Amino acid sequence: MSGATGGEGPLVLLLHGPNLNLLGEREPDVYGTATLADHVAAATAAAGGAGLVLEHLQSNAEADLVEAIHGARGRCAAIVVNPGALTHYAWSLHDALAAFDGVKLELHLSNPNAREPWRHTSVVAPVVDASLVGLGADGYPLALEAVRRLLARRGVTV
Ligand code: DQA
Repeated sequence: MSGATGGEGPLVLLLHGPNLNLLGEREPDVYGTATLADHVAAATAAAGGAGLVLEHLQSNAEADLVEAIHGARGRCAAIVVNPGALTHYAWSLHDALAAFDGVKLELHLSNPNAREPWRHTSVVAPVVDASLVGLGADGYPLALEAVRRLLARRGVTV
């Protein structure tokens, strides 16, 4: 699933990793009943309200996410990423994000720190500006507002 909204303003890339295409059906007790499309719609609306323009990509392939981060270099003002299980071991995402100069925000529906021990490590956390976890669907509008504020700190006002 991928797409972009129209409009003008700084571009924000919203990235989702493996299995997040199954949101709504997958472990609803953990991740809720909203679908990925629902979350992207909420993020798109929040981006518009914050004067930002959203692009979105979900992929089950690590390489696609690395390529998308490379493609954001010099083009997007910010990346919001929920890497799914790749969060916990994909050093390629760590390195790709380290090579992206814009605002970076890690987002998780659940709170991985309150789950199985293997979820307690995030290899992307050291290279992002902030992490938002455990807020469920509310995390999306909050993430876009956080991006707006983090951009403003860098002098990017919309
Ligand atoms: C997740 C948390 C990860 O541990 C898990 O592998 C996911 C979803 C979340 O949004 O809560 O796929 O990133």
